[in-house]
Amino acid sequence: MLPLTIVVFGATGDLFKKKLTEAFFDICQKKKVFEIYTIIGLSRKLLSHSEFRDLAKLTLAHVGQEDEVDAFLARLYYYNIDATDLNSLIDLREILDRLDQDFGMSSNKLFYIATVPGTYEEIFKNISLSGLGLPCIGGVRHTVPWTRIVVEKPFGSDLKSAIALDQLLGQSFKENQIYRIDHYLAKETVQAIYAFRFENTLFGDIWNKDNIERVHIFAFEDEKKDNVEPRKVFYDAVGALRDFGQNHLLELLSLIAMNKGVPSEIRTQRARVLAQVRVKDDSGVVFGQYEGYKTAGFETSQTETYFKAVLFVDAAEWEGVPFVLEHGKMLHQTKTGISIFFKSAAQKPNTIHFSIQPDASICVDLNVNEGVSKQMCFDLGNKENQFIYPYEKLLLDLLAGDQTLFVSTDEVKEEWRIAEAIQQKGKTQTLQVYKKGSSPEAIAQ
Ligand code: BG6
Repeated sequence: MLPLTIVVFGATGDLFKKKLTEAFFDICQKKKVFEIYTIIGLSRKLLSHSEFRDLAKLTLAHVGQEDEVDAFLARLYYYNIDATDLNSLIDLREILDRLDQDFGMSSNKLFYIATVPGTYEEIFKNISLSGLGLPCIGGVRHTVPWTRIVVEKPFGSDLKSAIALDQLLGQSFKENQIYRIDHYLAKETVQAIYAFRFENTLFGDIWNKDNIERVHIFAFEDEKKDNVEPRKVFYDAVGALRDFGQNHLLELLSLIAMNKGVPSEIRTQRARVLAQVRVKDDSGVVFGQYEGYKTAGFETSQTETYFKAVLFVDAAEWEGVPFVLEHGKMLHQTKTGISIFFKSAAQKPNTIHFSIQPDASICVDLNVNEGVSKQMCFDLGNKENQFIYPYEKLLLDLLAGDQTLFVSTDEVKEEWRIAEAIQQKGKTQTLQVYKKGSSPEAIAQ
């Protein structure tokens, strides 16, 4: 097996600290997916290898046995590299070449872009100019090494910039080497949607406009879950719709409305649904901002920290069914999921709730006797692991070369088309100011 070199751009950021360090530790050290691996962290901060290892150690304090953690830390390296500067990436190329010479062969390479999105354009240009996308020198034994690139969301800031980024990436990588992350696709409940819908004959014929009244896709976050203040510069440039709606919530919509497909077609099916999504004139768009958001430096900010929009899918089976998307920060609770409300003459209509957070479960409300309705819940997940698990799953798939849970270029483009249409409508509305801890009903009445 060839060795693996992982290069993380933006390695002193939140993502590496909160999710990636532990996910890499599990995959590389505990599960030993690769026998030989090296993880190289890059960022503009001045740190030594050992300071970087100390930071990683803090994250892993309660995760593994001391000897396992130490073995992992010994494989971590850090370089103070500004990836928006071409010369720095030429230096990186040399570092990687030397590493491969030490291995005695060209390693598989994974470039993980976890920097702020505003730097993507420069980084992609420099990757191309420095030739980082090409396999390094060194004798290859039997197997041809691969090079893959992982890009965090948001991919672009609108349709135009997403297309431009794709073109830049295309200079170094083919679509089958590009892994655009939407970690919601790898959440336990989200992965279960497909099997639940298509492997239960019960739901086969009823999943359409004749039986479904409306679909609510929501992600409510309270202050404990995500306080945007520490990353306000990033957040203020993005807002709730582009941070959460353009990607996570639209991917959820696509999984609810898509047709059955063989695994290799799932991405195409998701993209097909997204292409059918319409933002109509009466799309009920509401944008809100929590009271106290306008701190120093952000006094005139019109960035939304809450949004709601009603979308329709332009397909015969979904005609007239509203898909309500809703997300907000600093709300009264943290709760993410999808509720499917069925049409019914019964006192209590049937509902299916896909709960993504705080627990991973699927619950069904059924009428079991005259006037008696019961809820049946199926527990899907492991609570402790739910924040790391999606990243681990995605990394394992990526190392295996499986792109099913990654977002294709077609999906990204459709997502931006939809988000732009919602944004346009949001701009014409008055921004609703809401108190921290509000319920969403209090914002969008
Ligand atoms: C990220 C968003 O993509 O997802 C954050 O940028 C959000 O704003 C986060 O809080 C939620 O992810 P999870 O897995 O913690 O629910």
